[in-house]
Amino acid sequence: MENNKYIKSKELLERASKVLASGVSSEFRKYNHPHALFYEYASGSKIIDVDGNEYIDFTLSQGPLILGHSNQQVLDAVNKYSEKGQLFAGQHIKEIELAEKINQIIPSAELMRFCLDGSEAVQTAFRVARSKTGKNLFLRFEGHYHGWLDNVAYGISVPKDENLGDRNKPKVFPWCSGLSTESKSEFIIIPWNDIEILEETIVKYKDQLAAVITEPIMCNNGCIMPKEGYLEKLRKLTEDNGIALIFDEVITGFRIGLSGAQGYFNILPDLSIFAKAMGSGYPISAIVGKKKWMEEISSGRVIHAGTMNSSNPTIAASLATIIELEKDINVYHRIFELGNKLKLGLENLSSKHNQNLLVQGPGPMINTSFTELLEVNDYRDTLNSDKQKLNRFISNLHDKGVRVIGRGLWYISATTTEKDIESTLEIVDKILKDL
Ligand SMILES: Cc1ncc(COP(=O)(O)O)c(C=O)c1O
Repeated sequence: MENNKYIKSKELLERASKVLASGVSSEFRKYNHPHALFYEYASGSKIIDVDGNEYIDFTLSQGPLILGHSNQQVLDAVNKYSEKGQLFAGQHIKEIELAEKINQIIPSAELMRFCLDGSEAVQTAFRVARSKTGKNLFLRFEGHYHGWLDNVAYGISVPKDENLGDRNKPKVFPWCSGLSTESKSEFIIIPWNDIEILEETIVKYKDQLAAVITEPIMCNNGCIMPKEGYLEKLRKLTEDNGIALIFDEVITGFRIGLSGAQGYFNILPDLSIFAKAMGSGYPISAIVGKKKWMEEISSGRVIHAGTMNSSNPTIAASLATIIELEKDINVYHRIFELGNKLKLGLENLSSKHNQNLLVQGPGPMINTSFTELLEVNDYRDTLNSDKQKLNRFISNLHDKGVRVIGRGLWYISATTTEKDIESTLEIVDKILKDL
């Protein structure tokens, strides 16, 4: 039956598809419910689509909106600084102010460079690691996402009717057509959270490994916390073997706390990537790191460039975002508390309705899946969940005004309220009863 709730979006999608490939500007936007939607207005924790449907927004634009939609201080800072110019192809004062601030709050950020997004900052980190070590390979982990470029686009997903093979020798599948076959030889991939396999692999390939890249919390699949001692072991093994440890903090940065996951876990990576919540929705990212590594860029041995880097609006947005987060001294406490309230509420409702809903994650981000497992510790575990049931759950939530990322990921912002959580749980109560 035709769903009239989204009729205007449907019409616009038909129009868009004539001029935009499949009607969207990023692949992930295709997978909305029931199809790509068009939005008109967003403020705080709410977003409204062109059909006038309002949602409590737990997608927060795939993570960036740590201050919620349309934060006034960020908007004012962007507008005011853009009046002076947009892009100088030269340096400007706020760029130093932002770098000084990041240097103060991110433990390993002795030197940095600003870029536009997470994907390109990740590639810059590989270049730095290769230049410094004279080695070529990097080690990645199953289920981690580091952007959409070729050398990190293998091993993101498993085709239907395939499997990942042996834990010690995983099968690697391309994410899509058109990837360079050479890129496949740039990396080794292993399951995450398995100290034994990690150690064996690093010992075996230490003379070829320039870097290990990891999400410090596996946010992209299952919101999985590192097992006790895992990141510490990773730090030690990389340090002992002259391998760069890269923390991909694109999600954890400014979300799990001002100092990122490296502050949260008290582990110093050599290089890290920040994006998403760093800029409240404006295109800015950073590669930050210890001087010893970042000097590859300072010296000119490694070239990092970009016409659009550090434009006035992006720098102003990032600086204002961090200042707002610093001013609100309870902000992270509140975000954690609300996330944990949501998590506990979901777990209680799952028990009440005899469902197999598993909720994982530290609070600022959580993940929901339907599985018989009591705990999900790596990507292979996530493959045991009931994806169709999750789709029904997420679609039902959406129809009732709660917007969650399709793979079950929920984000909390500084503007998420107690009322948002309570209303959401009332809706979940009704959905789980009949799911
Ligand atoms: C952990 C992680 N790294 C890198 C990226 C790529 O960032 P971007 O989409 O800004 O290129 C993402 C995007 O979702 C991410 O989640």
